Amino acid sequence: MLSIENCRIEAQVVDITTLHVDAIVNAANTSLLGGGGVDGAIHRAAGPELLRECETLHGCPTGDAKITAGYRLPAKHVIHTVGPVWNGGARDEALLLASCYRRSLECAREAGVKSIAFPAISCGVYRFPPDEAVKIAVQTVIDALSAYPSLERVVFACFDEAMLARYERELSSH
Ligand code: AR6
Repeated sequence: MLSIENCRIEAQVVDITTLHVDAIVNAANTSLLGGGGVDGAIHRAAGPELLRECETLHGCPTGDAKITAGYRLPAKHVIHTVGPVWNGGARDEALLLASCYRRSLECAREAGVKSIAFPAISCGVYRFPPDEAVKIAVQTVIDALSAYPSLERVVFACFDEAMLARYERELSSH
C-alpha cells in the first residue's frame, strides 16, 4: 500500500468484477465487442447490456480508452482500454501501455470517478512481460495523480500471488 496526497494505491489478489469501486478498467481489444480473460469475465458479470452499449462505440484504438456504464457490476462504470500486443518491445509497446493507464484515468476524471481498479493490462494473451508492465502501471498512475486530485483510491487487481508480489515490490520502491 502506498499513500500519495489524497490517494491510496494498493494491490490485491481479487476478481476485478467483484470490486465495489466507481470504475473498473477492462483490458479489451480494438473491437470492444468482448473476448476472453478479464474482458470475458467483465462482460459475463455486467450482463448483455454492456455489449449493447459497446456496440455503439465503434471500437477503440490501441492505447486509448472509452467509458461505459457498469450495468450488473458493483462498479458504476467500466473503462475499456486496449493494451498493445507484445511484439518484442520495439513497436512502442511501452508507450502504448502507459497511454492506456493515462487515458483510462482521463476518462475516469471526466466521469467524476473517485475509486478505480485496474487489471494487469496486456499481461495475459497479449504477452507483455509482467515485470516491465507493472513498473509502467505504477509509475504512470503516480505521475497522473497531480492532475487528478479528487482520486482517492487505486486498486491493482491481480489474478494470482505472483502478480501481487510484483506490484507490492514496485509500490514499496516508491
Ligand atoms: N480479475 C482480475 N484479473 C484478471 C481476471 C479477473 N477476473 N481475469 C484475468 N485477469 P488478459 P490482455 C488477469 O488476457 O493480455 C481478451 O480476449 C490475467 O491473469 O485478460 O490485455 C481481450 O478481448 C492477466 O494478468 O488481457 C483481448 O483480445 C490480466 O488480467 C485480449 O484478451 C490481463 O490478461 C487482451 O489481452
